[in-house]
Amino acid sequence: MPGKPVEVVAQQGDLTTVTSDLVVVDAFEGVESFGGVTKAVDEASGGALSRILAAGDFKGKFKESVMVHPAQGGAKRVLLAGLGPVDKLTLDKVRRVSAVVARRARDLGAREAHVALLGVGGAGLAPRDVAEAMAEGALLGLYKFDAYKGVKKQEKTDERPQLARIVLLDKRATSARQAAEGAQVGSVIAQATNQCRDWAQWSGDDAAPSLYGDRVVALAREHGLKATVLDKREMEGLGMGGVLAVARGSVREPRFCVLDHHPRGAKHTVVLVGKGITFDSGGISIKPAEGMENMRMDKSGASAVMAAVVAAKRLKLPLRVVALAPFTDNLPSGSAYKPGDVVTTMSGKTIEVVNTDAEGRVILSDALHYAGRYDPAAIVELSTLTGGCIVAVGHHAIAGMGNSEPLLDALREAGSAVHERIWPLPFFDEYGEMVKSQVADVKNSAGRIASSVTAGKFLEHFVGDHPWVHLDIASTAYHEGATPRFNEEYCPEKSTGVGVRLLVRWMRDFKAPKKAKA
Ligand code: BES
Ligand code: MN
Ligand code: ZN
Repeated sequence: MPGKPVEVVAQQGDLTTVTSDLVVVDAFEGVESFGGVTKAVDEASGGALSRILAAGDFKGKFKESVMVHPAQGGAKRVLLAGLGPVDKLTLDKVRRVSAVVARRARDLGAREAHVALLGVGGAGLAPRDVAEAMAEGALLGLYKFDAYKGVKKQEKTDERPQLARIVLLDKRATSARQAAEGAQVGSVIAQATNQCRDWAQWSGDDAAPSLYGDRVVALAREHGLKATVLDKREMEGLGMGGVLAVARGSVREPRFCVLDHHPRGAKHTVVLVGKGITFDSGGISIKPAEGMENMRMDKSGASAVMAAVVAAKRLKLPLRVVALAPFTDNLPSGSAYKPGDVVTTMSGKTIEVVNTDAEGRVILSDALHYAGRYDPAAIVELSTLTGGCIVAVGHHAIAGMGNSEPLLDALREAGSAVHERIWPLPFFDEYGEMVKSQVADVKNSAGRIASSVTAGKFLEHFVGDHPWVHLDIASTAYHEGATPRFNEEYCPEKSTGVGVRLLVRWMRDFKAPKKAKA
């Protein structure tokens, strides 16, 4: 059994007198003497921290830390954490240090840790924002996917005291109140991100399309949302030829899932679309064996959009948010769709199948068309769409493109704020020529060159005139081994949950962009 989830809260309180397994205070790089709460805690614990500083054993470098066991006061341990130079502190650094601190607390076997609002004194960051970033960093950094670990291993870890709570403390009533709000919001967003990580990570029997349908229904029940899950027959009724074609290769039937947050009085609707390939073998155009196991993550986009709706609901965002995701395997079999096939999609447009491994765009054709029924102010679609995305941008950016510059700009701003950064790819009309087909309206592959862009151009056929942005998250949804990855302090190996924090940030700041075409 996995332990109870850790809780992060903020309260008014005094770190110099609190009884705690672990008290955490901070300092910037190059300080000669401590100020604020760090000074107070140092004095209360008999000057141990200033002796370390005087000895030159702590420089305040980013993520540096030292620990003391004071002879007096209520703290069993005091950890001094470095934040780096005061003029270089960002919320993302706060998030990262918070993750380091939380993991340290867990590894020490602390049941409860009491932590100062990192960097609030000195760097001029708002207590609310800092607490939000700290809650995110801690809960994201503590995430572990151990659903498939054997019983023994789980029992062993259960022997240690479990970290139950991280309490952010501030002496001032106003800051503490603001921090409490921030910690709550940050916790909601981190929990949604961790949910996305689980959903993206499950494999084998747990990754059946029908189970995702059940999970979407369960989410709706738990959070008071509306879910609609279409089965194969209903999809046939709607003529969702794209999803059905890809699904033909598997004995497991597809699902088309809708999760709807519809608050009273909402003025705008945004539709979030996610690719939900439960396993991408490539189909008849089968992939090489090496690394194929990772293609269980091909449902990362779908996982992100569902989680984002849950967060929107829990944060009571005054916006209608609809997540759409087709879920299906992409497998080879005697009934699988084949290169050369022509598929008629829900929109009536036809697709020439050149390569069955370009399946994401085939299922998304129906989802993007379906999005139109909500008359959305914006469609944002997240997909692990192309290997070419990784070739183009590595693991430090999401590739973005679409028909609305203001929408792309707004998403880029949100992405920068949460450190899930988007970089645009060229999206000139000329690239659209590359997906023209001799036999159908569009073909699903234009080969290797500019493959991320031509994938986007394919999708554009099914969007209509709604403002739309396609985010290729093949680069950032999954990391393994020695490949450089972004924010490793709070992004574990494998599924990162990318997209959830970005979408939530964007929805919180939502302004309706203009229609793409008049
Ligand atoms: N799911 C893959 C893209 C992918 C590759 C995601 C590696 C993450 C890591 C997608 O369905 C795919 O196979 N794309 C092909 C398209 C090609 C056949 C036009 C690709 O990018 O190679
Ligand atoms: Mn594929
Ligand atoms: Zn795929």
